[in-house]
Amino acid sequence: MKIGAIASSPEALAKIKDILEKNLNEDQFVFLERRNDELEIDRIDLFSTNVLIIDSETVSKADLKAISSCTKEHSNPAIIYATNHTHEAGLLELMRAGVMEVISYPVISSELLEAIERLRLRRYIASTYRPRGKILSFISAKGGAGATFIAGNLGYSLAVDCKQKVLFIDLHMQFGDAAFYLVETAGSGTLTDVISQTGLDSTVVASATTPVTDNYFLLQAPDSPDKAVGIKPQHIDNLLTVVIQDYDYVIVDLPREIDAITMKVLDRSDKIYIVFQPVISYLRAVTKVLNLFNLLGYESKKIETILNRMDKGVVISVEKMEDAIQKAIDWVFPNDFINATESVNTGIPIEKMRPHIPLSNAFKAMAGQITELEIDIKGHTSWMQKWFK
Ligand SMILES: Nc1ncnc2c1ncn2[C@@H]1O[C@H](COP(=O)(O)OP(=O)(O)O)[C@@H](O)[C@H]1O
Ligand SMILES: [Mg+2]
Repeated sequence: MKIGAIASSPEALAKIKDILEKNLNEDQFVFLERRNDELEIDRIDLFSTNVLIIDSETVSKADLKAISSCTKEHSNPAIIYATNHTHEAGLLELMRAGVMEVISYPVISSELLEAIERLRLRRYIASTYRPRGKILSFISAKGGAGATFIAGNLGYSLAVDCKQKVLFIDLHMQFGDAAFYLVETAGSGTLTDVISQTGLDSTVVASATTPVTDNYFLLQAPDSPDKAVGIKPQHIDNLLTVVIQDYDYVIVDLPREIDAITMKVLDRSDKIYIVFQPVISYLRAVTKVLNLFNLLGYESKKIETILNRMDKGVVISVEKMEDAIQKAIDWVFPNDFINATESVNTGIPIEKMRPHIPLSNAFKAMAGQITELEIDIKGHTSWMQKWFK
């Protein structure tokens, strides 16, 4: 990118220069100082400059005017303004004038670099946004429904049977457990390692993941709740933007608490799967989650339901359950306590452990339908004809 700066004093200019030149990106710089306190923005080639940094202890009317006329006429550059003028009304004035980022004055290195990275990402999104992949989120209607188990094993089938590049993100900021389900020993990298990076890109993400297969990767939750403290919705949003360019499917295992981070993921998801079991208390829980999603305004076609641990012995019919939750049941997975428990206890995906049992076949069938690929499913499938829609 081409980055310009118009500094308020020689000292301020030296500081900005020092911060930018230490940064190893291949950016080009133009450094100027104000003339008699005036910005005189036209000294900069506005067409080719992507980011313009301006600093001033307080914000003058003259600056606001100069910035408004610049942002009205040109889509470049994005303006970063460093000032102490950060009470609400002052911020509003700057935003109205078209400033994209407001940071403290005098400039602090981390703040300036982060603001630049956000603008870089935004520009990158605007120019190249053709997401390669899809985001599939899983949420348990009630703890223990099998959301993590299904999300993790579906990822395996997408990667192995459908040859897709898959990333699993465990977003349980407390007590994430997906790693136990998918690998015998997990690596040490977690979400915290990714979030703390300034220039987030796909190599940073890749180095924090644990491979499950050669095209299925797991990004673990922070290993203790205190490490999750600084994680903000904006971090997760940026992370999704980056990984969606690099993976065909991004599977997110969501906690049941709906907070600002969960909502950010739900907003960005292509599909949201709610997992439940054929038990009255779970049906009530599904209804609650569906009502909440309705209140939050998610289109119902984005939401799918997965009935897990279905069994011949279950007395309530699928139709009755659909009546109870007032929504079609999209996927049904059979109960298989022995094999599921063995898979979870050993950290071996179920399909790897028992490739042809009905439970593994259900994952293959779902992965095949999601990717619209023909999957060769061997073994017992009569169960699927009955339940799979
Ligand atoms: N289809 C199934 N049949 C039998 N047991 C299952 C099945 N799916 C999941 N389980 C078991 O349920 C337990 C809880 O699943 P989990 O995915 O951790 O639930 P959640 O993430 O919804 O809280 C797991 O230990 C797993 O062994
Ligand atoms: Mg879980």
